[in-house]
Amino acid sequence: MNCIPGIILIILALFVLKIALIAIFFYQEVRTAQKRDPAAKSFLEVLFLYQGLHALITYRVTHLFYKIHLYFLARMLSQLARFMTGIEIHPGARIGKRFFIDHGMGVVIGETAIVGDDVLIYQGVTLGGAGIEKGKRHPTIGNNVVIGTGAKVLGNIIVGDNSYVGANAVVIKDVPPNATVVGVPARITKQDGKKIDTSLDHMRTLDPIMQSIEELQKRIDKLENK
Ligand SMILES: CC(C)(COP(=O)(O)OP(=O)(O)OC[C@H]1O[C@@H](n2cnc3c(N)ncnc32)[C@H](O)[C@@H]1OP(=O)(O)O)[C@@H](O)C(=O)NCCC(=O)NCCS
Repeated sequence: MNCIPGIILIILALFVLKIALIAIFFYQEVRTAQKRDPAAKSFLEVLFLYQGLHALITYRVTHLFYKIHLYFLARMLSQLARFMTGIEIHPGARIGKRFFIDHGMGVVIGETAIVGDDVLIYQGVTLGGAGIEKGKRHPTIGNNVVIGTGAKVLGNIIVGDNSYVGANAVVIKDVPPNATVVGVPARITKQDGKKIDTSLDHMRTLDPIMQSIEELQKRIDKLENK
C-alpha cells in the first residue's frame, strides 16, 4: 500500500519527462503552429491541445518503425493516432520540417506522399492516389505550400514550392511553383503574384475545357442580367 504514492510520482515524472522531450524535439513545429494559427494563444495550448501536432508526433515514431520494416506495428500506432485525432498519416509518407495541420479532422496522407518543409494543410485535405496503381502514386508537395480545407490532391503529381491550393479544389495535374489553384478540376488563378485572366491565358490552364465552359457561363449570366 505504501508504494502507491511512489508509483503515482513515477508516473507523473514520466509524464513530465515525455512532455519536456516533445517540447524540445517539436519546438519548431509548436512555434510554427503559433505563427500560422491566429487562434493559438500559447506554447502550452498547442503542445497539449493541437491534434495536428499529436498526429505528427505519432507519425514521426511510426515512420521510424516503417523504415525498419515493422509495418504492422507502424500501421497499428498510426491507426490509433487516427482514432484519437481524426488524422490519418500513413507511416510510409515522407514529411518535411515545420509541418502544420490546422484543425486536422479528416486529413488523409497516403503512403507514397512526399511533403516538403513549412507546409500548412487544413482539415479535410487528402493527399491520395488517383486509382489502384502501385509504386509512387501519391503527390509530392513542395516547400512552403498551403493546401486549403477540403482540397484533394490526387495521383503522382507535383505541387510546386510556394503554391496555394484553394479550399475544396481537386488537383489532378502538376501545379507550377508560386501558383494559386482553385476549383474542380483545379485551375490556376494566380501565378507569381499576378492574377491570371482565364479568358486570355491558355498556357497555364490546367483544364481548358472547364475554363471555356466557365467563360460561356459568365457570358450567359451577363446576357440574362440584361
Ligand atoms: C484560393 C484562395 C487562397 C484565394 O486566393 P486569391 O488569390 O486571393 O483569390 P481571389 O480571392 O482573388 O479569387 C480568385 C478567383 O478564384 C475564386 N476562388 C477563390 N477561392 C476559391 C475556391 N476555394 N474555390 C473556387 N473558387 C475560388 C474567386 O471567386 C475568384 O474568381 P473570379 O476571378 O472568377 O472572380 C482562398 O479563396 C482559399 O480557398 N483559401 C483557403 C483557406 C482555407 O482553407 N482556410 C481554412 C481555415 S479553417
